[in-house]
Amino acid sequence: TRKTRTHHLLQMKADGERWGMLTAYDYSSARIFEEAGVPVLLVGDSAANVVYGYDTTVPITVDELLPLVRGVVRGAPHALVVADLPFGTYEASPQQALETAVRFMKEGLAGAVKLEGGERVAAQIAAITAAGIPVMAHVGFTPQSVNTLGGFRVQGRGDASEQLVADAIAVQEAGAFAVVMEMVPADIAGQVTRKLTIPTVGIGAGNECDAQVLVWQDMAGYTNGKTAKFVKKFADVGDSLRTAATTYLSEVRSGVFPGPEHSY
Ligand code: KIV
Ligand code: NA
Repeated sequence: TRKTRTHHLLQMKADGERWGMLTAYDYSSARIFEEAGVPVLLVGDSAANVVYGYDTTVPITVDELLPLVRGVVRGAPHALVVADLPFGTYEASPQQALETAVRFMKEGLAGAVKLEGGERVAAQIAAITAAGIPVMAHVGFTPQSVNTLGGFRVQGRGDASEQLVADAIAVQEAGAFAVVMEMVPADIAGQVTRKLTIPTVGIGAGNECDAQVLVWQDMAGYTNGKTAKFVKKFADVGDSLRTAATTYLSEVRSGVFPGPEHSY
């Protein structure tokens, strides 16, 4: 297996080869995804939801996310590990963005960072890439801005498609190596994908993106409650785990576990 580099992803776009990205937040799951051959793993600030139990991604801090990055990097030596920059750690200035990105590279050993926004963060993307750090951008629905976007809604519909296209072009020109497009109409995502030379990574953005991403707990059926329309459940890990825990408890209570084969 080769170590995934950003130039491989550009080449795959040129070759029309699709790829999948998953989130990961710890060593054990990262190992499994590495074995499955997932080329890019995102330590998303969605850890706010699935690891820390917050309602939105707004509260998560660098100190909460950084240790998760270290675990994922150890578990997936061949994947390109991308670390999300948390809300409030890059918006103020290119210098703030660079300082935060450097922490994720130095202390987290990430291979790249990701931040949310288009034109409004182009200067940040330029500063980070100029320092030798690959940047993945994220446009369309940007969860850290949920409070100004009016909730979890599709972006780039109708007249708003012009801004979406402008944002995608801006991040490419600023030096991003890829761009996530979240919750945008499939035809707009297709147009953007054809316009850009860097790969687009869709989530709720239809089937014409160069790549796709899902939060792994959504992908594997390991979530609490309702999921978005764009989620497909490829397994029932939550049900398996619940059954395992229930069976374990009942075997402990009844004295079936541990048996002679588990004893010294
Ligand atoms: O934090 C996250 O999981 C993400 C992906 C859904 C793109 O940003
Ligand atoms: Na994110």
